[in-house]
Order: sequence, then C-alpha cells, then structure tokens
Amino acid sequence: MTREAAIELFGIRFGGVPEYVVRSPGRVNLIGEHTDYNDGFVFPMAIEQSTWLALRGRDDNQVHVASIGHRDAQFDIAKVVKGTSGWAEYLKGLAWAIGPDALRGWEGAFATDIPTGAGLSSSAALGIAGARAFAAVSDWVWDAKTAARAARRSENEWIGVNTGIMDQLVIATGEAGHAVLIDCRSLELHTFLLPADVTVVILDTGTRRQSVSSEYDDRRASCARAAEAANVSALRDLSLESLPMLASAVDSVTLRRARHVISENTRTVEAAAALGIGDIDRFGEYMGGSHRSLRDDYEVSSTELDAMVEIASNVEGCHGARMTGAGFGGCAVALVDKTAVCGFVEEVGQRYAKATSHNPRIYATTPTAGACVDRFVTDAS
Ligand code: GLA
Repeated sequence: MTREAAIELFGIRFGGVPEYVVRSPGRVNLIGEHTDYNDGFVFPMAIEQSTWLALRGRDDNQVHVASIGHRDAQFDIAKVVKGTSGWAEYLKGLAWAIGPDALRGWEGAFATDIPTGAGLSSSAALGIAGARAFAAVSDWVWDAKTAARAARRSENEWIGVNTGIMDQLVIATGEAGHAVLIDCRSLELHTFLLPADVTVVILDTGTRRQSVSSEYDDRRASCARAAEAANVSALRDLSLESLPMLASAVDSVTLRRARHVISENTRTVEAAAALGIGDIDRFGEYMGGSHRSLRDDYEVSSTELDAMVEIASNVEGCHGARMTGAGFGGCAVALVDKTAVCGFVEEVGQRYAKATSHNPRIYATTPTAGACVDRFVTDAS
C-alpha cells in the first residue's frame, strides 16, 4: 500500500512513472539498548514497516522531494545550507555528508508506515532511503556501512541529534528472517535466524515524549564521564568487576548509568548466543533483565512502558518483553509464541488500555531485508 502511495504521489507531483523504487525499513531493537554509543553490542532487526521512495534521476544537481502530509522541498546538492525544510533536512545533510562530487540530482516521492517518535527509527529509514536513491542515480557506489556512517553523520552534525550507529546500520544491512548482532566498535555483523515458532510483537504505548534528545545527551555525557574516570576509551572496555573501582571515582548516578551499559553489553552477547541455540526462554529472561536495568539504572523507561512490559510479560505465550529504542515513551517489544499471538495482542491491548487510559497499537512484525532499490517496471513495459 505504502509503495503504491509513493508511486502515485510521484505521478501527481512529477508526472509519468519513476525510474526506481526504494524500500527502507524501520527497525526494532531486541536487546542492547544505549550501548551503541559506548562502542558496545546491539541486537536489532529490520522490520516490515517501511519508508518507500519512488524516484527518477535528473540531469542536474537538484533534489526535489514530495511526501504525503508535508510541504515539498528542493535543494541543490552542490550548495546545501542548513535550513528549516523539516524532514528534507535529513536528505540535505546526507548529500553534505557524502560530498557533492559523485552525486547527481533526483526527484522523488516518499510514503511511510513507520510511526514517528515511536522508537522505530523513521528518521534513519529516511536517511538510508536517500542514500539508496543517490547510489541509484549517481556514480556514488552503494556500500551499506559507508551509507550508514553518512546517514548517521547527517543526523549528528546536520540535524544535531547525537545518535549512535545502530539504527542506520541495521536498516542498511538487515537480513530477512534474521536479527543482527552488531559490534558497534568494529561494525562487524553476525546474523541470527529467528526460530520459526516465535513472533516479534511491537507494543506501541501510544505515548511520545518531547525531551528525549536532551535526556539522551545527558546519558551520553554520564557514559563519557565514567569512561574517562576509568581511563578507557569507551564503557565497552569495562567488565562488572570494574564497578568497585569506578565507585570511588564517580557519583552514584554515573555509576548506575555505567552499570547499565556494562551489564547490557554482556546480556546482549549472551542473549544472541541463546537465540542461536534456540533457547527462547533464556532470551526472554535477558529481555526482562535489560528492561529492569533500563528502568532502574539508566532511568530511560516511563510509567507506560513499565506497565506495557509488566502486562505483556504475564500474558500466555510471551517469552520476554522490554522497552525498545531511546525510551521515555514509544514502543516495547515482546517475543511471543506464534500460536499465541492473536490472543496476546488482544489481551495485552485491553489490559494496557484499562491500566493507563492510553490507546496502544500492538502488532506482529517479521525481520526483513535491509534497504533495497528496484528498477520500476510497469505492466506495460
Ligand atoms: C536511539 C539512537 C540509537 C541508540 C538507541 C538506544 O534509537 O538512535 O543510536 O542509541 O536510541 O539504544
């Protein structure tokens, strides 16, 4: 549906048919939260919910973009300046991060079914869609890690949001049916097949928070302080045995932040190994441990996320649940027996709405391939 919406909007705004159609998925992180900017481990997967971009190359340096519900935007690749084009700034920042020399212009229409502000990485999906588009029409050659680095740089330095590399990298490299263990220091990737009898369920609390960016920066600063006090380049280099030493060098809040990151790194690697041998119950226990650590030590959960995780964890067929993404609102994620999913979705939805008076959106998803581009072929061609 979203693909067709992008193609239709392309026809309306630019006339004719597109040359290429890009699909760039959202992502959900199964475990490994707030570890990526500490050079640690994350275990996300690309999801079905995606941003679609129908586009055609141009003979000049202009990028013209349209998107349902937003004003059209236009910029010159060779002369990008920071502006107030909202969502299109991500594309400008990308052109700036890649550099104008190898790029050519294009015109394209976007449509998406990734909810914004939900912790499912709609902005990283937009950036990686842009990278696929530039690679399709230019001499710039697609390389997933280079694209992820450029999209991240655009978010960090053009938009001013200090994210890690997880979102861009899994969106660029995801594999159908698999979750991806990422070493955020080396960018080494290991894929793990999700067992056929379980389903990943996204549990949107229906809440969004405004202050995520400043809270996120605050947590990053705590991690940097702790790493500096321990004389290591990142918290990735510490084990739980370092905590007593750290306790004498930092305040108690910084110590708890560091404890989350250090314990989460271990949990993530062990959880991936458990999934690798099909031990879903153990994986679910690690998810629970991750949530408690994010709630109590890192303090990035919320009343609604806690309620959702508590309710989901106690419904038949659920192996484990936790908040996912930056936190403070948005989504939780659960691993649920395939045969129990329908009942799970209904029961968790009812109980959560009753407990919080918020309207949740709960849906199953599957791990999908990362961003891809196809030549557009009409029935007539
Ligand atoms: C956001 C950021 C990621 C990561 C998560 C927390 O999604 O974009 O880089 O830091 O928060 O794990």
